[in-house]
Amino acid sequence: SATSAHTHESFLRCLTLHSRNDSISEVIYTSSNSSYSFVLESSIRNPRFSTPSTPKPLVIVTPLVVSQIQEILSCAQKHGMQVRVRSGGHDYEGLSYVSPVPFVILDMINLRNISVDVENSFAWVQSGATLGELYYEIAEQSKTLGFPAGLCPTIGVGGHFSGGGYGTIFRKYGLAADNVIDAHLIDVKGRFLDRKSMGEDLFWAIRGGGGASFGVIVAWKIKLVPVPSTVTVFTVNKNLEQNATKILHRWQYVADKFDKDLFIRVVITGANSSQEGKKTVQAAFNSLYLGGKDKLLPLMQESFPELGLVSEDCKEMSWIQSILYFSGFPSGQSLDVLLNRTLTVISYKAKSDYVKNPIPESGLEGIWQRFYEKEAESAVLILTPYGGKMSEISESAIPFPHRAGNIYKIQYLVYWSEEGTAATESHVSWIRRLYAYMAPYVSKSPREAYINYRDLDIGTNNEGNTSYRQASIWGTKYFKNNFKRLVHVKTVFDPTNFFRNEQSIPPLSW
Ligand code: FDA
Repeated sequence: SATSAHTHESFLRCLTLHSRNDSISEVIYTSSNSSYSFVLESSIRNPRFSTPSTPKPLVIVTPLVVSQIQEILSCAQKHGMQVRVRSGGHDYEGLSYVSPVPFVILDMINLRNISVDVENSFAWVQSGATLGELYYEIAEQSKTLGFPAGLCPTIGVGGHFSGGGYGTIFRKYGLAADNVIDAHLIDVKGRFLDRKSMGEDLFWAIRGGGGASFGVIVAWKIKLVPVPSTVTVFTVNKNLEQNATKILHRWQYVADKFDKDLFIRVVITGANSSQEGKKTVQAAFNSLYLGGKDKLLPLMQESFPELGLVSEDCKEMSWIQSILYFSGFPSGQSLDVLLNRTLTVISYKAKSDYVKNPIPESGLEGIWQRFYEKEAESAVLILTPYGGKMSEISESAIPFPHRAGNIYKIQYLVYWSEEGTAATESHVSWIRRLYAYMAPYVSKSPREAYINYRDLDIGTNNEGNTSYRQASIWGTKYFKNNFKRLVHVKTVFDPTNFFRNEQSIPPLSW
């Protein structure tokens, strides 16, 4: 439209005229630039938000230095351009690269330095770095230090840490956000702040409250954690004919009570049975143990004999190799794959739930029924056990509130490769039906959800002003009582609601 063309031009003029740094012209991409599509698509993980009808940014800027972020924020405010900050681009609903109003993507890809201090067990990592790059860098320097963050190496630390971030060692060490000890952020006024100058309220908010509401996070200082030189992994598959229902039912009574060194998640998929033409469901018990198998086997015999784990199921390796194992790389793969940012992508929709009481076998059987439907061909449920350190941290320590009392979290995922809205609608409808079916078995009032598994079904803001009451519909699901404090912090640091999206924290308006 004429307005957006005008916004676009005046924003660009502002950037180039007032920029303190000449090189900014080298990192501005508009649709007339031949690299525009490449840069736009480089970290889009969900092609559901990369169709011809998806709104596209008027401009993408990939700053090389902090002063360029300050220029972008200042020009965007002057010329009514919305800013979407993107680090790894893994947002489930595409909020880091899609907006219904004229917008610029501030892509952190060029700000990805990592410096590890082995002696003092900490690191500074810029938000454009991926988890793979961070894990690689730590492993280069130490075999006995690790970091408790997510499983997929292409995730960006900018979005991930600001929403919590869990992985295979979070029962021992908590979330990535629990281990952040300082941060650098540019606020709406363009000020460069660290923990001391931003104050404890804002520092609290960005560790789990979602970074997108408060400013641009440039870097995190994180505490590295000890990992043993040998860890053990296993994956034991059980289908319905192999007693999957009973074993899974039992898992619910032990998974959150295991020793903190033991993590056993369950990945559920549809499968073909050995009986021809018959469908079944497979539960993969997928585990990391922080120690050798000599200790793991007796531990399993004592606490979860029903799984029938035997020595041949177990593989011993270094912690960094376990990262590759959980990312699905074959054994013997070089660590260099952790640096690969190229994505294979397929459309998906996801949702999340928290389970506080074991689901009865009859309840599990109702889930299996839904796996026999045709939309569920590429559906996955991931059950992640809580307990351990997660239960020891208070609900208000950081905005992430899902602590003691949770046995496990369920992530529901459905994928499809067909293009077009019919395929999207039928798969999204399948996952919504499953979610509706699950209501009696999961957390209630609020029905809790994990912000890093962004789900716009649970409620959104208006394009204009959003009341506290409307935003608390989705806000209390992600943050429970912490939502109030997040609104308070937002009101102090971004009262005009410049940093906004469909699920950003609203300021109180008077
Ligand atoms: P993206 O760049 O899309 O940002 C996400 C949100 O944060 C957006 O709102 C964005 O604007 C904002 N943001 C990003 N950078 C910012 C910055 N520098 N300053 C301010 N705001 C910023 N989670 C988990 O806990 N454990 C796991 O194992 C996994 N595994 C996993 C696998 C796969 C394949 C996907 C796609 C996702 C996951 N996740 C996950 C979820 C993941 O943690 C979540 O999507 C993160 O928000 C992704 O962070 P990115 O920086 O990649 O996303």
